Amino acid sequence: MKYKMNTNNQSHKTTICMVIGDPVAHSLSPNMHNAGYKAYGIAEQYTYLAWRIRIEQIPLFLKGVRSVGIRGVSCTVPHKIIVMPYLDKIDPIAKKIGAVNTIVNDNHVLTGYNTDWIGISKPLEAITSIQGKTVALLGAGGAARAAAYAITQSHGKLIILNRTAEKAQSIANDFGGTVAPLDDYETIQKADIIINTTTLGLHPQEHETPIPKKYITKDHIVFDCVYGEKETRLLKEAQEQGARVIHGREMLLHQGTAQFTLYTKRKAPEEIMRKTLL
Ligand code: ATR
Repeated sequence: MKYKMNTNNQSHKTTICMVIGDPVAHSLSPNMHNAGYKAYGIAEQYTYLAWRIRIEQIPLFLKGVRSVGIRGVSCTVPHKIIVMPYLDKIDPIAKKIGAVNTIVNDNHVLTGYNTDWIGISKPLEAITSIQGKTVALLGAGGAARAAAYAITQSHGKLIILNRTAEKAQSIANDFGGTVAPLDDYETIQKADIIINTTTLGLHPQEHETPIPKKYITKDHIVFDCVYGEKETRLLKEAQEQGARVIHGREMLLHQGTAQFTLYTKRKAPEEIMRKTLL
């Protein structure tokens, strides 16, 4: 008899993956991963959930993941750093970036990976070579560290611009590159690629943009890691200036396809997963 799987009825045949965060209800990851399982006809063996986990629950939660054999855990805000001490192994790239967005459980051994940098690198490399390009990286939080890894890995010239100078300097110390204040618009204008990882443009700052429109030109590639319901002001204005743009959902897609492969050991059905994000 064929077993009909649903998320309230876990069977021994069901491999469970999930995204954890707080909040997490808005996450598009379950749709994206479950569409991938369906595309491969493995939706009866795999299921992907969103689970709200509070920070103080992390140690016990990860013990449970290890012991009951949950296969994969994607981590979003605020868990990417705090999960790290509770894992058995950390992949060297995740260690260098200093954050884990993907946990894989292999026979009760938890390994932390970071696929966020792939979410930055793949969409960029799809339209340009990063090598030798000057990249203005706006922001110096977790997403910026993943972007700094992606850019320096591909031999781009990195300039980190941030409101808080020390945080920009810390990225430059770890990955190379130079630093500048966030409002050094002339420096931004001279760059080939602009990547926004600040939260400007994200609710409740959705009407803001990190760069006045006049500094964006048609020669720029503008990648906004921020995404919401609507297009950000930065990308709208960049398009009006004739620049090529990359939406934050492309980052979500490519960090997700890399996770799909880590969890299932299969190549991800990228186009099908992309459709769920549109
Ligand atoms: P993430 O993990 O998504 O990168 P984060 O670590 O909270 O998020 O980083 C948020 C980034 O947005 C930081 O670079 C922050 O600047 P500071 O380092 O100065 O805090 C930036 N940011 C947030 N609000 C901002 C604002 N109003 N103006 C300028 N930068 C802002």
